[in-house]
Amino acid sequence: MKSFQITRTLPTDATDAALRADVLQGLTGTPKTLPPKWFYDAYGSELFEMIVALPGYYIGRLERELLAAHAREIGAVCGARTLVELGSGSSEKTRHLISALPLHTYLPVDVSESALRQAGQALAAERPDLHVHALIADFTTAFTLPPTPGPRLVAFLGSTIGNLLPRERGVFLAAVRALLAPGDALLLGTDLVKDPGRLVAAYDDDTTGLFNRNVLSVINRELGADFDLDAFEHVALWDAAADHEWIEMRLRSRREQTVKIPALDLAVDFAAGEDLRTEISAKFRPDRLTGELAAAGLEVERFFTSPDQAYALTLAVPTDHATGPSTVRTTASVS
Ligand code: SAH
Ligand code: TRP
Repeated sequence: MKSFQITRTLPTDATDAALRADVLQGLTGTPKTLPPKWFYDAYGSELFEMIVALPGYYIGRLERELLAAHAREIGAVCGARTLVELGSGSSEKTRHLISALPLHTYLPVDVSESALRQAGQALAAERPDLHVHALIADFTTAFTLPPTPGPRLVAFLGSTIGNLLPRERGVFLAAVRALLAPGDALLLGTDLVKDPGRLVAAYDDDTTGLFNRNVLSVINRELGADFDLDAFEHVALWDAAADHEWIEMRLRSRREQTVKIPALDLAVDFAAGEDLRTEISAKFRPDRLTGELAAAGLEVERFFTSPDQAYALTLAVPTDHATGPSTVRTTASVS
């Protein structure tokens, strides 16, 4: 029996209210900012899949290799019957996990309804025995999961955690910890600190420029704004400050201009060369990762890195319920 179900956890107008609040706050503050979740309308999700296919964007490839190599071992540590995936997007790489776990239910959670529908329907067709229950939800706000059989594995892949600010990460990890019962686990994908040239190259290309500017199209469409996309330049830079260590994506105003946002009754002035920050993508060092997990009540059970130490997958369990040795096991091979 083929089973696909989709649940919206928030009323449609809540999305609209959240967009208004974020745009108002972000564009009237100094410096100007916008939260990254608004990139992902149907076109934004398509552009993201194009980014993943670019040769310079190594994250998807390395994470896929790590999942393929270690899915069985992950399954041996947490024989999950429910896989919850936050920010699941196309669910492509997730197939390696799905086939290695004794799953009853797959629960993809995403703000992009189009991505959830495409991925969920395809998976349900491939795996008629699997219950696929997609949730349209924002993982940065409280949401409840439907009751499904345990144990649960919560996967958060693609280094999407790096798109949260440090204080947001703390809140997020504590919320994930609160979802976990004894025997449950978190699987977290993180990009690691490396040569800034390689890092910047992954975010500095025309497709990522289109993706970055797409947030302005979303505001034009949803709030009737008159952003001229050509009047903003895509900028990707490396912020090396020890407490940052992130790529920052910005949109730089090519000229002095005023943008009108009728739905907010707002006019926003941009100086020539003024930057609007649209996203950070934090890169991690293993000790920072262990520290942030520990602060949220999570302990590292397995730490898998790509051979070049560029990317890591961490399997963590609630501290009170940690099994195995308390030291971190490092595996530097994916074959
Ligand atoms: N996990 C996939 C996709 C990563 S892109 C991969 O590794 O390739 C980030 C995904 O998270 C997108 O699908 C986007 O729609 C989703 N997303 C971003 N912010 C979100 C939020 N606040 N709540 C839920 N989903 C979010
Ligand atoms: N979370 C991933 C990263 O930070 C994917 C991502 C989000 C991304 N926004 C992006 C990749 C913009 C390229 C451009 O890399």
